Amino acid sequence: MRKIVVILSSIIVIIFIVLMVFLFNTNSKDKDLEKINDNKSEIKIPNEKENEFSKYSFYKEENLDRYISYKDNNKDLGNEDIVTRVNLNLDKEVYTDTKPASNLNTNYLFVNKFYYLDSNYIPNNLELLDNSYAKSGIYLVKEAKEQIEKLISDAKNDGMNIRVISAYRSYSYQENLYNNYVKSDGVALADTYSARPGYSEHQTGLVVDVTRAFDNFNNFENSEEYNWMLNNAHNYGFILRYPKDKENITTYSFEAWHYRYVGVELAKKIKASNLTFDEYYIRYLESDNN
Ligand code: DAL
Ligand code: ZN
Repeated sequence: MRKIVVILSSIIVIIFIVLMVFLFNTNSKDKDLEKINDNKSEIKIPNEKENEFSKYSFYKEENLDRYISYKDNNKDLGNEDIVTRVNLNLDKEVYTDTKPASNLNTNYLFVNKFYYLDSNYIPNNLELLDNSYAKSGIYLVKEAKEQIEKLISDAKNDGMNIRVISAYRSYSYQENLYNNYVKSDGVALADTYSARPGYSEHQTGLVVDVTRAFDNFNNFENSEEYNWMLNNAHNYGFILRYPKDKENITTYSFEAWHYRYVGVELAKKIKASNLTFDEYYIRYLESDNN
């Protein structure tokens, strides 16, 4: 009898052990399956359109091949600059592939060697500047005029003597000016400092060329007035349009005297960004307004 009990108990223990081993195996298989499923959910399905340039909000899919070849030729530039410069057409010859400027009669109106104004575009609300602020016969868009007069008055309180020598220029005025420069300096040199007709920001009515009163504009860079403008112009809505060391972006040589009105809010943002208007426009303004 005792022997039968021992045999039965042994059989029960063996069955128990076999059962436990079976249960453990099934459980760990489930765990493995779970793991596989977890891994599956971590695997990202690759997006064919994702690439090293596409994280920027101003990325343009149609420019991808150009980004790649521009990067090949400009290995020192980061991807954000590559996208910006290609979007600005800086991989192309100036005055090729040009487009009419959009946002006419706004403070965002962007004109450069790729965006032009029609020969009969005349901005709305042009007003004559008072002789105490400018040479005679100088016109600006009303808002820009009011702001430059305020700027010049405040600068005077700081001992600065600033005067406007050029502002709105019609298409035909610019045509004459440019043709005369070409006659004396040739096309290649003239293009570095003068816009072709239709491509001058002066036609927007939002630009001033300033000097220390009655001094030549070529001396402006060495004046206290120049430093005052660098430190204060943005508070009145003006930005230095063709800065030093940005010639390869603006495509113009440095102009200490040429200020562009964009409105106070935008001027402060552009100044803080340390970008040229070209870069800021193509990154943040182009898509908002087109
Ligand atoms: N000097 C500037 C670039 C113009 O001609 O508009
Ligand atoms: Zn100018």
